[in-house]
Amino acid sequence: MALGWPTMAVVLTCAVAVMLPGVSSTRYIVGANMGWTSNVNYTAWARAKHFYRGDWLYFVYDRNRMNVLEVKKRDYKSCNSEHPLHNWTNGYGRDVVPLNVTKTYYFISGRTKGLFCRRGTKVAIPVK
Ligand SMILES: *[C@@H]1O[C@H](CO)[C@@H](O)[C@H](O)[C@H]1NC(C)=O
Ligand SMILES: *[C@@H]1O[C@H](CO)[C@@H](O)[C@H](O)[C@H]1NC(C)=O
Ligand SMILES: *[C@@H]1O[C@H](CO)[C@@H](O)[C@H](O)[C@H]1NC(C)=O
Repeated sequence: MALGWPTMAVVLTCAVAVMLPGVSSTRYIVGANMGWTSNVNYTAWARAKHFYRGDWLYFVYDRNRMNVLEVKKRDYKSCNSEHPLHNWTNGYGRDVVPLNVTKTYYFISGRTKGLFCRRGTKVAIPVK
């Protein structure tokens, strides 16, 4: 079956929108194929990347061990999970965070009083 003109127009418009540079946003799986876990250096993971407003972070992890808390810089450094700015944990071990503000975001795993955070499950994301 041949596509009618209105359908073709919609398909072409979508294709052009996807190809325009600067318009598309990137979704990053935090830690890539390692996910959000212990024994990963997330500073090293984030270092070579450029995060822009409109991008997304995708945290994939064992929901019985980790969670995803956005915290202040001070609490990121000390692994203090008592006063999160935002609790991104939805309970399924799959959390999506929209980077919709130009700032540095700080995330930690706050389970078991920050134990995993102190073992490295923490990441700072500077958004341009
Ligand atoms: C993690 O990687 C960063 C950047 O490469 C490095 O400066 C830091 O020492 C590493 N941390 C650990 C605990 O290995
Ligand atoms: C974060 O939200 C999850 C799911 O609603 C909840 O189970 C958990 O207790 C919350 N954690 C904190 C530190 O608020
Ligand atoms: C960014 O997203 C958060 C969480 O969904 C929301 O609370 C906040 O209002 C948003 N900020 C902007 C500037 O859109």
